[in-house]
Amino acid sequence: MRGQLEKGLPEPSEEKIFASRPSELSKAWTRYYDRLAAHFAERIGRRRFNVILEAGCGKGQLTMPLLRRLPRNVKLFAIDSSKGPYAGWLKELSQKLQTARLENRVQPIKSDARRIRGIEDECVDIVVSNELLCDLPLHSQLEKALTEFYRILRPGGFMIHGEWSSSPAVEPQAFLIKHWPSWTPDQLFSIMRKKGFHEFQVTYFGSTIHFGYENAVEVLQTWGATETFLKHHDKMLRREGIELPYEHIVQCEK
Ligand SMILES: C[S@@+](CC[C@H](N)C(=O)[O-])C[C@H]1O[C@@H](n2cnc3c(N)ncnc32)[C@H](O)[C@@H]1O
Repeated sequence: MRGQLEKGLPEPSEEKIFASRPSELSKAWTRYYDRLAAHFAERIGRRRFNVILEAGCGKGQLTMPLLRRLPRNVKLFAIDSSKGPYAGWLKELSQKLQTARLENRVQPIKSDARRIRGIEDECVDIVVSNELLCDLPLHSQLEKALTEFYRILRPGGFMIHGEWSSSPAVEPQAFLIKHWPSWTPDQLFSIMRKKGFHEFQVTYFGSTIHFGYENAVEVLQTWGATETFLKHHDKMLRREGIELPYEHIVQCEK
């Protein structure tokens, strides 16, 4: 039997989640990703599918809440290169899957998205990713990953990618965008079209997290912010904290 998402009640697409104190951080992320998974599930809609591949799954931030929204017969390949600042993340996902007894539904694969190992041509119905494309900042890197996604997707397959947008959620935080730029939907449209994808659409995920000072510093450090960077912005971080940018979500078909 092919999978199909249950049609649930639509959830409001915008919410400001607050993580003012360190004790609130983990709950805030869980809420954020749960809402994001709802947005992805809504975009997938009533399409029929058996096999999903998530590229750059990390430690399963989106994988886990998405899985809870997918029919039980759906198989998910979770690929991640899991190196550098992200070393060990795929292992963390495997542990979470075991704890949640979901290991039968997900196959974690350590692989680069630009050369996907162990996945045959045209055997995947849906490719998803979140915050992967910004880790492929060179044109050639993005093109290689898109070539791979095109190869593994079946004809008519669906692809959906989320990325923090290039506009700050609040004005003073333009520095976030300057240091962590992303592909714009316009750029993605032209590159994906060139690669053969069509039915391109963009939606926006308007929920965000506001981080108080200590959380802001921790988040920026996980994004690779240097001590010099943190020192330079210390006053502003203490005064304002930071807020996640909104996400643009691009989708298209093979
Ligand atoms: C910013 S994290 C996002 C993690 C998760 N998807 C999320 O939404 O929070 C980027 C992830 O992409 C992975 N990644 C980066 N470049 C990759 C590549 N070329 N191939 C596979 N995974 C990659 C990293 O290892 C990391 O886990």
